[in-house]
Parts: sequence; C-alpha cells; structure tokens
Amino acid sequence: MVNISFESLVDSKPVKIDLDGTPVCVTRIGDEVFAIADTCSHSEASLSEGDVTNFKIECWLHGAEFDLRTGEVATPPASIPVETFEVKRNGDELTISSRKSAEG
Ligand code: FES
Repeated sequence: MVNISFESLVDSKPVKIDLDGTPVCVTRIGDEVFAIADTCSHSEASLSEGDVTNFKIECWLHGAEFDLRTGEVATPPASIPVETFEVKRNGDELTISSRKSAEG
C-alpha cells in the first residue's frame, strides 16, 4: 500500500504513483479520489498524462477513455478494462492498495 496526501492532489489532475512496482493513476474529483492502473490496456501509454472529464480519463495516445470509478472502457480503441485500486481516506491521508486480498 501507499499513502499520499489528499491536499496534494489537484482536482482533475491525475498523478502517477508507484504501488509496489505497479504504476497507478490517482485522480481527485471534488472530494472523491479514484485509483486505476496507469498503463493503458490498449498500447501501454501512461493514463495519468491524459485529460479528465466527467469521471473519465482519456488516453493521450489514441483517445480511448476509461471510467475512473470502474476501470471500464468508455470509448475505443481500448477494449479491456483497467484494474482499479482501493482508496481509503483518513483526514488528509489517503491509502491506496490493491483489491487483490489474497497475497502470499
Ligand atoms: S495506448 Fe491508450 S488508447 Fe492506445
């Protein structure tokens, strides 16, 4: 898991963090924070470099859009959803962790 400051996040400006070797795209929208895999499922561009509109992030490379809430593809050419990560907030502290519970 990784801890980051809520106040350090700028609304609709995604940041890339490293979660145990996995790049994760963290986006604040208002009081909500979403974390999805940073690597686009289409051709591995970095999603955190894309634009955020209406709970969706647009991959800068070919324009696929992913729903930040679910990781689902909203617009092709991507067809495979991206992983989502758990975000817990305690005051200013955010904890980002994998949803995969059973880890050896
Ligand atoms: S790499 Fe993201 S849409 Fe192609």
